[in-house]
Amino acid sequence: MKDLANQLTNKDKFVIFGGGFSGDYFAKSIRKLGCTALTSSRSTNNDPNSFVFNSEKNLLPEESIFAGVTHILSCVPPDKNGNDPVLKSLQNKIENLSLEWVGYLSTTGVYGNTNGNWVSEKDQPKPFQERSQKRLNCEKEWIHSNLPVQIFRLPGIYGPGRSTLEAITNNKIKVIHKDNQVFSRIHVADIANAIIYLLQNKNKFDFHQIINIADDEPCSQIEVIRYGYQLLGLKMPEKMLFEEAKKYLSPIAQSFWLENRRVSNKLLCKKLGYKLIYKNYQEGLKNCLININ
Ligand SMILES: NC(=O)c1ccc[n+]([C@@H]2O[C@H](COP(=O)([O-])OP(=O)(O)OC[C@H]3O[C@@H](n4cnc5c(N)ncnc54)[C@H](OP(=O)(O)O)[C@@H]3O)[C@@H](O)[C@H]2O)c1
Repeated sequence: MKDLANQLTNKDKFVIFGGGFSGDYFAKSIRKLGCTALTSSRSTNNDPNSFVFNSEKNLLPEESIFAGVTHILSCVPPDKNGNDPVLKSLQNKIENLSLEWVGYLSTTGVYGNTNGNWVSEKDQPKPFQERSQKRLNCEKEWIHSNLPVQIFRLPGIYGPGRSTLEAITNNKIKVIHKDNQVFSRIHVADIANAIIYLLQNKNKFDFHQIINIADDEPCSQIEVIRYGYQLLGLKMPEKMLFEEAKKYLSPIAQSFWLENRRVSNKLLCKKLGYKLIYKNYQEGLKNCLININ
C-alpha cells in the first residue's frame, strides 16, 4: 500500500520552465493527478496556464506565478554561453521559495562517446561536443545551488507529434547506415511518468541526484525508420552510407553520428522499480500512430 504522505496532492503546484514538448507533456500528466501546473513560454499565448519567461529578453515571471509553488521542473536548454537560463535569471528568487523538489531535464550527451558501450550514472561524464560541455556546466550549476535538485539525463525524445513517423510523412527523413552505430531514445510519456513515479515514491527510496531515463533497447536508426515505414504501409527508400550522407546533413545533424552509446536504465527500472510504458521503439512508435491522419 502507498504511504499517503508520499503522494502528490491537489495542494502541489508545479512551475515548469520551458513548456515545450516534454514540459507540456509533463504538465498535462501532473494535472491529471489534481496538481496545479503552469508552463513558461518565451512569448505570450492564449493558454491560461502559461506564463512568459524569456531569459534573453529578461522577461521574468510575475510574482503571482510563484505563490504556493512546491515543485519546479526546468526543461530549458543552456544559453549560448553555457549558463543555465533559469538560474541566471531567477536563482535568488527560487532559492527563497519553500520548494519540496526541483527537477532538471539534461541530456545523455554529457557521457560523450562510448563506442557503443553501455553507460550509466556511475560513469564520469566525458562530453565530446561543445553543447554537451555546456550542458554539464548547467548540471553543475543546479547541483551547486541551494535547491533540492534531481537531474534526469535523457537520450533522443520522441512521442506523438514528434517522431520518425512525422519525419517520414513530411519527407524529412534520410535513411542512413553506419556500421555498429546505435542511438538510445525515450518516449515523452515515460519521461513524465517516470518523474511522477519517483515523486510519488520519494520517501521510499534512497535519493539519487542523477537518473537516466531511457528505454530498454538502444538500436540503429535504420531499424526504427524501417519499422516506421512498415507501420505507415510505405516502401522505405534505399539506404545511404553515412560517409555519402554526410554532405547532405547539417553540422548539428552530423554531430549526432559522432557519438555512439547505449544508455543504461538499470538504476531507474531495476533498482527503483519503474516500469516503462514503452520499453522499445516498436511499442513507442505504435503509440505515435495516433497522431498520424
Ligand atoms: N529533443 C531531444 O531529443 C532531447 C534529448 C535530450 C535532452 N533534451 C533536453 O531536454 C529538455 C527538454 O527537451 P524538449 O525537446 O522537450 O525541449 P523543447 O521542446 O525544445 O522545449 C524547450 C523549452 O525551453 C524554452 N526556452 C528555450 N530557451 C529559453 C530561454 N532562453 N528562456 C526561456 N525559455 C527558453 C522554450 O520556450 P518556447 O516554448 O517559447 O520555445 C521551450 O519551452 C531540453 O533542455 C532539451 O535540450 C532534448
